[in-house]
Amino acid sequence: MNNFTFKCPTKVVFGKNSVEQLPTLLPKDAKILLFYGGGSIKRNGVYDAVIKELKGHKFVEFSGIEPNPKYETCMQAVKLIKDENVDFILSVGGGSALDAAKFIAAAAVLEAGDPWEEIIIKAKPITKTLPVGDVITLPATGSEMNGISVISHKEKGLKFAWSSELAYPVFSIIDPTYTFSLPQRQTTNGIVDTFAHIMEQYCTYDVDTPVQDGFCLSVIKTIVKEGPKVLANPQDYNARANIFWAATCGLNGWCGVGVIQDWASHGIGHELSAIYGLDHGQSLAVVLPAVLEYCVKEKAQKLALLGREVFALEGDELDVAKRTVDKIKEFFLSIEAQIKLSDFGVDKNDAAKQISERFKERGTVLGERANIDAKATKEILLSC
Ligand code: NZQ
Ligand code: ZN
Repeated sequence: MNNFTFKCPTKVVFGKNSVEQLPTLLPKDAKILLFYGGGSIKRNGVYDAVIKELKGHKFVEFSGIEPNPKYETCMQAVKLIKDENVDFILSVGGGSALDAAKFIAAAAVLEAGDPWEEIIIKAKPITKTLPVGDVITLPATGSEMNGISVISHKEKGLKFAWSSELAYPVFSIIDPTYTFSLPQRQTTNGIVDTFAHIMEQYCTYDVDTPVQDGFCLSVIKTIVKEGPKVLANPQDYNARANIFWAATCGLNGWCGVGVIQDWASHGIGHELSAIYGLDHGQSLAVVLPAVLEYCVKEKAQKLALLGREVFALEGDELDVAKRTVDKIKEFFLSIEAQIKLSDFGVDKNDAAKQISERFKERGTVLGERANIDAKATKEILLSC
């Protein structure tokens, strides 16, 4: 096992009516920014539930942060934070709202320079942020228990992740009943994203980490079993709860400490979102199986273990590894994911050309063996 340092300062409050704990979690005298997306929280009652708990607190609102949150919109929120002297940000919504909340929390107190350049491109360690808490409504990103944030720059057509120890939410409220209202597309996206997070951390080469591998296989087994249940019955509380906790644990560090990680599928997927506007989960449903197929020999050991444990496959290692990739595709299709670029009207030749050129220009190399370069990316995308 590799050396690691682990700290997660986020307080998680999980379960039905957990929003009622908001008054005890919020700093009493803080001026709060209630920060949310395009309005799903107004349609499903979450907004009203939060407003009820904000009684007695001073707050202002910022709405309209979009999926694949944009830097440009974030900067409008930064202006509001400064104008209104906000000192606590409460994100209510999916991973996009929360990622944007983490970014504006850092951008609003940045002493000098352009936040896109300083925080994301130069990735200078930030030294202060405003505190962020959240009511998370979409199981997918794990943003509710990590220090990662992914921001898109509309004008430049770029999408990049950044992270900081200071970007962890102080608290996260997770009420699985809030996910009853998710459209099928977003439920599916969330399951695919969770699946991909595990594969990026698990499906590399072995450095003898049975605890982490066990966590990973447990998350995968859970989503394979519970995923179809939430699609068949969106109001199945226990299935929704298990899916949510699987998503949170999928990217809160427990699976990723001390192991070798990959992140090639995410690296390529972010480009598809930046260029063609695909949802994050949609991009992964297309790219992950293609990356696994491309790397099947070098990933055979972990793929075969997964195939045996999750899909009860038998046979020799490479054969099981190959059939495991087929099973993953079958699973994605069974939860109504689309796994070809053409399903989204994207020309694979155009995607392969544009993205491999970007990687060539940037000198990008991805994957646990740093062998997913521009040329490999082109081949992978041509198989999508
Ligand atoms: O904007 P509103 O109106 O709220 O609607 C949202 C949005 O349209 C809707 N939604 C959310 N909760 C709902 C709901 N609709 C009905 N009922 C609910 N309970 O769903 C749509 C998608 O929301 P979004 O927040 O964009 O989805 P998600 O949570 O999947 O976040 C995706 C973003 O997170 C990034 C992705 O790249 C993408 O930008 N990621 C963040 C990571 C992290 N912070 O660790 C890691 C991931 O790999 C990922 O890159
Ligand atoms: Zn992801």
